Amino acid sequence: MSNSAQPVCIETRHLKKYYPFKNGKTLKALDDVSIAVTKGTIFGIVGESGCGKSTLGKCMMRLQEITEGSVIFQGEDISRKPPKKMKQTLSKMQMVFQNPFSSFNPKLKISYSLREPCRINGMSPVQTDDRIGELLNYISLSENELNRFPHELSGGQLQRLAIARALLLSPEFIVADEPVSALDVSVQAQILNVILDLKQAYHMTMLFISHDMTVVEHICDEVAVMYLGTVVEAGTTSVVFKNLLHPYTKALMSAIPSVEAMGEGKQRILLTGDIPTAVDVPEGCRFASRCPDCMDICKKESPVLLTVEAGHQVACHRYPAGGEHKQA
Ligand SMILES: Nc1ncnc2c1ncn2[C@@H]1O[C@H](COP(=O)(O)OP(=O)(O)OP(=O)(O)O)[C@@H](O)[C@H]1O
Ligand SMILES: [Mg+2]
Repeated sequence: MSNSAQPVCIETRHLKKYYPFKNGKTLKALDDVSIAVTKGTIFGIVGESGCGKSTLGKCMMRLQEITEGSVIFQGEDISRKPPKKMKQTLSKMQMVFQNPFSSFNPKLKISYSLREPCRINGMSPVQTDDRIGELLNYISLSENELNRFPHELSGGQLQRLAIARALLLSPEFIVADEPVSALDVSVQAQILNVILDLKQAYHMTMLFISHDMTVVEHICDEVAVMYLGTVVEAGTTSVVFKNLLHPYTKALMSAIPSVEAMGEGKQRILLTGDIPTAVDVPEGCRFASRCPDCMDICKKESPVLLTVEAGHQVACHRYPAGGEHKQA
């Protein structure tokens, strides 16, 4: 799933994260997830609530213990590295969260929240000022904003600062978990443009988690669509979005209201049927009970993620490797 011309920054191999559930049952939050994030790119994870997006980000940063499989960061298997030895690895990773108001200590001025990590990591005051000044430029904020408390800034301003703070120590990898979901649409666009500018300027590598297909299409180089703990469709964003194949991905896309689509009289794909949970994962394809194109085999055998064209994989019995499609 990686762009072979560039080195991989971080990858997961057959990653599983199971949580114990009541009555001796198991919740399979991640079930055999393999993705590779190429250095200097933004990799999008998209899917409905509860499909395992945040769990994937946390496992990649080892903020959650891994049940099975591995995480390889800069060529090193960090899956079972003891917490003490993770300290140095974690200094190369950063996270940006959904709610910028809870990302900053409300009692501290922004300047302190930005300067303190630099001081702790041995940056001189001059280096710190230079670095902060440079980043402020990219996020279009001035020194004045640094002298304020978090509640004196807007959500958009704070999220720009949270992204700048994540970049202060030049991390190798950033997980941004729904960084624009809590903001209104006009502000979302600003933040996305800031992320794209910073990617360009700093060759930033990011896992961008979202439930919004259009945002992912706009900002990500690669994408993986998740359903109930597994990847159902993945690849190069431009290739995947030109030819969405998995019935679940198509339904996610068609759920987005658009003036153009209404003009063309496009139909929304409404998913019906029972929504299985990650506790009682059904046999066969996890999506079968909601799938408008379900076949007999789908209820019996779990489909494997196969390459159907260059830069495009899909896990669906209708799309065997090589792209010969089975008609409904
Ligand atoms: N610490 C935990 N203990 C038990 N179950 C958990 C834990 N964290 C997550 N889960 C479960 O794992 C599944 C995946 O959760 P996760 O938070 O990764 O989903 P998500 O895709 O990020 O959803 P959202 O879009 O709502 O943020 C869910 O069923 C959730 O209830
Ligand atoms: Mg989440």
